[in-house]
Amino acid sequence: MTTRLTTRGFHHITMVSSSATRTLSFYRDLLGLSLTKKTVNFDDPSAYHLYFGSEGGQPGTILTFFEWPHARKGQWGAGGVHHLALGVSTLDGLLKWKRRLADAGVPSNGPIDRGYFFSLYFADPDGQILEIATAGPGYAIDEPADALGQQLLIPPKERLSGGRDEQGFAASTYPEPVPLITPDMHLDGIHHISAITDQLERAGDFYEAALGLKLVKKTYNQDDGKTKHYFWADYDGAEVSPHSSLTLFDWSASTLRERPGVGQTHHIAFRAENAEQQLEWREHILELGVDVSPVMERTYFKSIYFRSPDGLLLEIATDGPGFAVDEPAATLGTTLKLPPWLEAEREDIEKTLTPLP
Ligand SMILES: [Fe+2]
Ligand SMILES: [Fe+2]
Repeated sequence: MTTRLTTRGFHHITMVSSSATRTLSFYRDLLGLSLTKKTVNFDDPSAYHLYFGSEGGQPGTILTFFEWPHARKGQWGAGGVHHLALGVSTLDGLLKWKRRLADAGVPSNGPIDRGYFFSLYFADPDGQILEIATAGPGYAIDEPADALGQQLLIPPKERLSGGRDEQGFAASTYPEPVPLITPDMHLDGIHHISAITDQLERAGDFYEAALGLKLVKKTYNQDDGKTKHYFWADYDGAEVSPHSSLTLFDWSASTLRERPGVGQTHHIAFRAENAEQQLEWREHILELGVDVSPVMERTYFKSIYFRSPDGLLLEIATDGPGFAVDEPAATLGTTLKLPPWLEAEREDIEKTLTPLP
């Protein structure tokens, strides 16, 4: 099915935190992301909404958190996100992350050679599964770059659990402590997001029809060898756009559904170029028979929300106006920003929020 509209990839991902203070210390101080906006959940101003990302908060680099201290713990399952991967350029940079995390008391698993990239797995303080993945070698290692996603690929034995060099991976780390984040460790945004579906075909068809994503890899989960693992991305037949890979694990046979809550992803957002394109997109998704929210004013972008066939909450957000719309670009994230309609309540809102370091 051809589509009129193709997203360039992810805009942001929004997760649930039980403590803004802990989340800030993990993502800003340990992982070195910039706090690009300190605000509240516009739909529930008693809760923080923190935005992390590249310095200016470019689409594709943005991780956001709702602070819900009293929410129950979530659990991944069909209709939810399994993990979020952040990108690093080299394997050396990845090894430095392994050492830096270990020295901070954060256990990790890897680096595992996935073929397409090397992966290091760990969890944030609320249990959200994270991965750091290298930029290369890329999807063209086992099929032509101009014909990705056309055949079902069986992973070679040396990449499957049981056949791979787990001991070698576990022993591999950086030889010295890494107290400072060096340029080769720079985390450059969302490398991929891996979700779980109980309707692989329908969900895949939907991502293609609704968002213009293309199937770029059909393979099996290297950790069990039996579950199908398909990858979609913004792909023009020559290159895969950065920050655009969405992968789905096929849990057709499972009845385990995602339970929303702390440590889980709340939703993922894809990019629209501007408000005009977003309106076209809204019409397009309605034509596919899917309910879509009205356009919501989020100050830094405009948003529409809808669900994939397996229940995952999706958003399309505009690239602009961006995070410098209500504070200077040089001091993003330093003060609590509220949208104009909440300014009158600032005093009460500030009283309910725990001050952040
Ligand atoms: Fe992954
Ligand atoms: Fe969002």
